Amino acid sequence: MKGQVYISDVAKHVGEEITIKGWLYNIRSSGKLMFPQLRDGSGIIQGVVFKKNIPESVWEACKNLTQESALIVKGTPRADERAPGGFELDVTDVEVIQVAHDYPITPKEHGIEFLMDHRHLWLRSRRQHSILKVRAEIIRAVRDFFDDRDFTLCDTPIFTPAACEGTTTLFECDYFDDEKAYLTQSGQLYNEATAMAFGKVYCFGPTFRAEKSKTRRHLTEFWMVEPEIAYATLEDVMELAENFITFIVQRVLERRKEELKVLERDISKLENIAPPFPRLHYNDAAKMLKEGGLAFEYGGDLGAPDETFLSEKYDKPLMVHRYPAPVKAFYMEPDPVDQNLSLSVDILAPEGYGEIIGGGQRMVSLDKLRERIAEHNLPESAFDWYLDLRKYGSVPHSGFGMGIERCVTWLCGIEHVRETIPFPRMLYRLKP
Ligand code: 4AD
Ligand code: MG
Repeated sequence: MKGQVYISDVAKHVGEEITIKGWLYNIRSSGKLMFPQLRDGSGIIQGVVFKKNIPESVWEACKNLTQESALIVKGTPRADERAPGGFELDVTDVEVIQVAHDYPITPKEHGIEFLMDHRHLWLRSRRQHSILKVRAEIIRAVRDFFDDRDFTLCDTPIFTPAACEGTTTLFECDYFDDEKAYLTQSGQLYNEATAMAFGKVYCFGPTFRAEKSKTRRHLTEFWMVEPEIAYATLEDVMELAENFITFIVQRVLERRKEELKVLERDISKLENIAPPFPRLHYNDAAKMLKEGGLAFEYGGDLGAPDETFLSEKYDKPLMVHRYPAPVKAFYMEPDPVDQNLSLSVDILAPEGYGEIIGGGQRMVSLDKLRERIAEHNLPESAFDWYLDLRKYGSVPHSGFGMGIERCVTWLCGIEHVRETIPFPRMLYRLKP
């Protein structure tokens, strides 16, 4: 904006009088000095208001300032090693735009439900700001990674006629004329169509799961990025996935150091993330779980405690591959070595964060795919277009999906996925 300098840019204006437009984050005073902290969305800077340097009216206005009041401040930035962002602002003038009365979120501790109810305001706090800046950086890295490798972005629909990831987590809604539609669980089936048209594609958008589970990993609405490649095998996409994750981690370390510091993230845990990632066959994972004394039955899916147990043994993301077909979706290609297993992979983030990526090689045979659709009690009529892909030039192809919020949770080193999206949707949370 004309005549306005953002706090993130003050380094370029040292010694110059500038204008900052923002809000009061916090204020302390001692005698003839006041120290208002200003935020403008790009950062926070501490101002110094010295009574003898400003008009009496400005001093009086500052005395009545309250948290989150809107302000336009003039001042001169000065480098100060002790200041959080490296600079302080010698304030020369303050114009109060609006006084905020009784801002509900104060520097004292609040309970999580209270904060979630005030999510629209909580977003202004330093911690939430840092998490969402990391999220935005991850999303930019995701797009750069695929765009730079000549993947074509092909958006997939949100209203769909059928399930992709099992019928138990479908959100159903009324469409027109008594028809039902379902909110998409994954863009994969459509990706398979666009991959046959474009070779290498990705989709990136919101996906929906009617998850009745109230865990720290589950949202009902989350963002997923899904690449899909014609002629690629399981091994090909495992290699792509390790390069993809490494790229994202490097980018965040490079560009979001300050935010990771605010979050007190131990970045030494991220710095050594590089290919190759460890690969663990499901059968070997099962053995390790048995030997570790976990209540795990061979043939079953990995539960959260199993994932935590396994991923804690490695300091890099762990790729568990070849899960039993019955615990995976209908479209997985069987493992030629053992038809009971599937050419699938889950990538488990270290430090106990668990699954962040799921993917695999897709069933190539028309007849076997038809059988699977029937076995999973899915209506074949909804999949006729999908089966066409196996009639007209069917080739091996593979892909994966990464949940953005799971990735943000891990990179930020935080406890719960609810803080990683501006307005989370969960089992008991639809507001604000
Ligand atoms: O493992 P999922 O269900 O795989 C698929 O949807 C495939 N069709 C993807 C593909 O191959 N194109 O989901 C993929 C990822 C998970 O690894 C996880 O990161 C995330 O999506 N995810 C969730 N994130 C937050 N809340 C939930 N309820 C999630 N369910 C899955
Ligand atoms: Mg999965």
